[in-house]
Amino acid sequence: MAKQDFLSLLDLSPEDLQYLIQRGREMRKMHENQVVYQPLVGKTGALILEMSSTRTRVGFQAGFSQLGGNALFLNAADTQIGRGEPVEDLARVLSEMVNVLMIRTLEQSHIEQLAEFATIPVINAMSSLLHPCQLLADIQTFEELRGPISGATVAFIGDGYNMCHSYINAARQWGFNLRIASPEGFLPNPEILASTNNAQMVDTPQEAVAQADLVITDVWSSMGHEGQESDRRSTFADYQVNETLLDQASKDVLFMHCLPAHRGEEVSDTLLDDKRSVVFHEAGNRLHSQKALLEFLLIGKVNA
Ligand code: CP
Repeated sequence: MAKQDFLSLLDLSPEDLQYLIQRGREMRKMHENQVVYQPLVGKTGALILEMSSTRTRVGFQAGFSQLGGNALFLNAADTQIGRGEPVEDLARVLSEMVNVLMIRTLEQSHIEQLAEFATIPVINAMSSLLHPCQLLADIQTFEELRGPISGATVAFIGDGYNMCHSYINAARQWGFNLRIASPEGFLPNPEILASTNNAQMVDTPQEAVAQADLVITDVWSSMGHEGQESDRRSTFADYQVNETLLDQASKDVLFMHCLPAHRGEEVSDTLLDDKRSVVFHEAGNRLHSQKALLEFLLIGKVNA
């Protein structure tokens, strides 16, 4: 089986992405029905985290374990990675020992370099540029609750950073319409934005959410923006997603957030508890969608 990486949603065809969504839904059902399914017995992954993580880490470690394999957690600070071992050496060494690498680092170029030298699949567990694993969970959540996302209207409110970039890639791959409202100075990468006609900048959060089927936001200061919190709180003050803003969306709108959320900043104190919020279902799908991804990259499609 040829090695397949998952550094971006653009690494897979729309058909393979939709397969993963369907398979994630099946993984969720198996989990709910306590079905024991262990196709990864004997397989090991290495999870390298240069930044904090709860959902991604638990999704990969619990997911690997539930599928019969094992995921090692490598804290960059406790390993030779933190002492400057070259990425190409790391890629070659780990390729001798494990079956898949999952890495979270600010530098997308490090992930790409790891993938270039590794002979095993490499998964982007988040960089400053992209967060493709989160999008698998988000699309799965929308389709479980509302049906196909193709043709839907999606509003992204806030920082034009990694989540926004992955939503632009998702709009391209799944064929939905994405409206983005970001303050001046925090717009998405222009090349990524220009890569599809399915994503447009709009002037205000109100314009973005009008009759939208899905509304998304993210924290105002992501990892890598430490020290900018105070300035960003003033810049983003008009970009809070709250119940009043959501009232302007479709009556069946869903609200998602990759979490962790800062109540009182990018979301109102009470929004996560609103009936339109599906953030905890979405978080649960980090497990099921990552299990589908591991199975796909390590053993290929099943039942297809
Ligand atoms: N959404 C997300 O990636 O969560 P973690 O940072 O906790 O992994």
